[in-house]
Amino acid sequence: MNNFVFENSTKVYFGKGCVKEYLADALSSYGNNVLLAYGGGSIKKNGIYDEVTTILEAEGKNIIEFPNIMANPTYEKVLEGAKLAIENQVDVILGVGGGSVMDCCKAVSMAAVCQEDIWENFWARSGVVDFEPLPLGVIVTVSGTGSEMNGGAVITNEEVKVKTGRDYPKCNPKFAMMNPEYTFTVPPKQTASGGFDILSHIMETYFSEPNEDNVSDDISEALMRSVIRNLPIALENPSDYTARSNLMWASTMAENRIIKLGKKADFQAHQIEHQLGAYTDCNHGGGLAVISPAYYRHIYAFGLKKFVRFAKDVWGISYDGKTEEQLAAEGVEALAQFIREIGLPITLRELGVTDKALLKEVAHSCNISSGSYKRMTQEEVLGILEECF
Ligand code: NZQ
Ligand code: ZN
Repeated sequence: MNNFVFENSTKVYFGKGCVKEYLADALSSYGNNVLLAYGGGSIKKNGIYDEVTTILEAEGKNIIEFPNIMANPTYEKVLEGAKLAIENQVDVILGVGGGSVMDCCKAVSMAAVCQEDIWENFWARSGVVDFEPLPLGVIVTVSGTGSEMNGGAVITNEEVKVKTGRDYPKCNPKFAMMNPEYTFTVPPKQTASGGFDILSHIMETYFSEPNEDNVSDDISEALMRSVIRNLPIALENPSDYTARSNLMWASTMAENRIIKLGKKADFQAHQIEHQLGAYTDCNHGGGLAVISPAYYRHIYAFGLKKFVRFAKDVWGISYDGKTEEQLAAEGVEALAQFIREIGLPITLRELGVTDKALLKEVAHSCNISSGSYKRMTQEEVLGILEECF
């Protein structure tokens, strides 16, 4: 295992009724002005908005609304939130939603107190957060990104066509509330893409050095098996509490830094997807579903032993006289088959990307990961994207 220092400062409240039981208490140590951030309105349809505002009103909180955070939040939206927070002397941000809401809130929490251009100094390049961002609490309504228990925020700057993420521990939410019942209303397409995002986060960590026996990889295998078991159940029965709970916690576990301990982590598929998103605004999990099998077909020979383990221990494929190469390839094909079964796109066209000429720009602006089993070139990225078209 590589050396590591571990800390995670987010307090988690998980389970049925957790918002009703704990929200007032969790907010009690902050002032009265609450920036209530959310997305395009799903929380108004499914009753979560009413549940949360009833609690805030009963506590005498002054609610400042910050609605309409879009999927793939933009830097412009971050600046809008920061302006609202400053003008209204906001004491605490409460983000209610998925990765897009949570990420936008993290960037707002910095932009509201920092005088600098946060895109230039903290997203375009990595910066040192030597100030305290506004405190943030989150209520998760869709499983997938795991943003609730890390400092990561992925922001799109439309002007320069860059979608990029940074993980600043000071942006970890102070608390995260997760009631799996809140995810019952997530539509099948988003359930599948969020579920695949979880799987992708785990695979991107698992398929990286070091490969010697280590507990992080063992945990990763258990998490991958859990997602593969529970995602089809949640798609079949959206109100299956057990399946929704497992997906919700697997999502957090995949991104709360625990399985990354002692590992290098790759995230090349994410880098490709992020730039694809910057150019096309595609769905995050859907983009990963298209890219991942092609990427893994490209690199499995460079991490053969690990891909063999993936085939055997995650997908339960037996040797039956196969070579290691055959077994590893079958593991990747099992992944591709799973993607088809959960109804996610397998080509860029199915994802809605119709302009092939864009792919060159996507490939050439894509970051290259140093954690991949095979360090990619921009031309190889282009080859993968063209293969996926
Ligand atoms: O906007 P509303 O109306 O709320 O609808 C949302 C949105 O359309 C809907 N939804 C959420 N909860 C729902 C619901 N619909 C019905 N019932 C509910 N309970 O779901 C849609 C997608 O929401 P969004 O937040 O965009 O999805 P997700 O959680 O997948 O977040 C995606 C964003 O997170 C970034 C992605 O790149 C993308 O920008 N990521 C963040 C990461 C992080 N911070 O660690 C890591 C990830 O790899 C990822 O890059
Ligand atoms: Zn992701």
